[in-house]
Amino acid sequence: MMNAIVTAKDVSQVYEVRRGLFQKPLGLRAVKDASFVVEKGETLAIVGESGCGKSTLARMLTMIETPSEGHLTIDGVEISADSASDAKKLRSTVQIVFQNPYGALNPRQKVGSIIEEPLKINTKLSAAERRQKAEQALAEVGLRPEHYGRYPHMFSGGQRQRIAIARAIIMEPKILVLDEPVSALDVSIQAQILNLLADLQERLGLTYIFISHDLSVVKHVADRVMVMYLGRPVEIAPVEALYANPLHPYTRALLSATPATDPKSKGQRIRLTGELPSPFAPPPGCSFNPRCPYANERCRTERPELTRHGPTMVACFAVEEGRIEIQPA
Ligand SMILES: Nc1ncnc2c1ncn2[C@@H]1O[C@H](COP(=O)(O)OP(=O)(O)O)[C@@H](O)[C@H]1O
Ligand code: SF4
Ligand SMILES: [Mg+2]
Repeated sequence: MMNAIVTAKDVSQVYEVRRGLFQKPLGLRAVKDASFVVEKGETLAIVGESGCGKSTLARMLTMIETPSEGHLTIDGVEISADSASDAKKLRSTVQIVFQNPYGALNPRQKVGSIIEEPLKINTKLSAAERRQKAEQALAEVGLRPEHYGRYPHMFSGGQRQRIAIARAIIMEPKILVLDEPVSALDVSIQAQILNLLADLQERLGLTYIFISHDLSVVKHVADRVMVMYLGRPVEIAPVEALYANPLHPYTRALLSATPATDPKSKGQRIRLTGELPSPFAPPPGCSFNPRCPYANERCRTERPELTRHGPTMVACFAVEEGRIEIQPA
């Protein structure tokens, strides 16, 4: 695609996990064969239950971790285990904002020095130049110059998230990865931070990868949505299509569990039953099959690939076989 700023092709992340002192380490596939693109200037939301691999994907997209398999290209630079120097070029291109505005800021550091830290590490700017940029960033996120000399504990949750956002934009990134950026905040504060993010995106021309388990938030911020289940993307669709006509049974279940987004047609309601399988031993075939009301024999042995149905990419045999109704657009 012409305007893709991120391209992921079969990206996987496997962690070697030792569960006992004398046990052999087991491979935990936190992300498996994720293929997707992010277009310049859009907001791609990534949703799914806790443990489905969202934060692992975020760490790869921000180069905190390198994929164990697959190809990840960010702003024209390929990220792989042996391209550490190339990845350096991208340090300023991608920045991340984490969920927890309490844990993410060092309590002993003044706000000014928190925000300036990326400049200190990555640039040769003088102290005066850094300060000027920090004050500019404070203004961008709706804080005041006098906040520069205060400590994080003097701020509310929403203000702390503003500080984290200021630190993220000070390197003038092209992409922000927002990992549950409002999940820890009161609902009234959430809206303010979401408005700020929308504002910054517009003014700074940013591309967002917005990670959330909250489908009612995603509906308001996303251009496209990628639904993940047990480390794999199972549905990727424009936001209107996903909410009007969710195709994957897992997407339908997630929407049915979110009152504000429940699809109109009652026939589509799916209740999620059963537990999330262990990521050490994902079920054979389609990983969703033990919880899926549409599962048949094929689902228990074969794995569905993402295929296109209208504006939607979906990995499901029931859709492919016409056992799930696709509403005309
Ligand atoms: N550093 C790690 N070492 C081992 N397992 C991990 C590590 N990070 C995440 N996992 C596991 O990978 C899976 C995906 O986790 P994560 O990406 O944090 O999911 P999410 O953000 O969607 O809740 C989970 O099973 C989690 O326990
Ligand atoms: S492939 Fe089969 S088990 Fe998987 S979601 Fe579709 S119908 Fe359900
Ligand atoms: Mg997470």
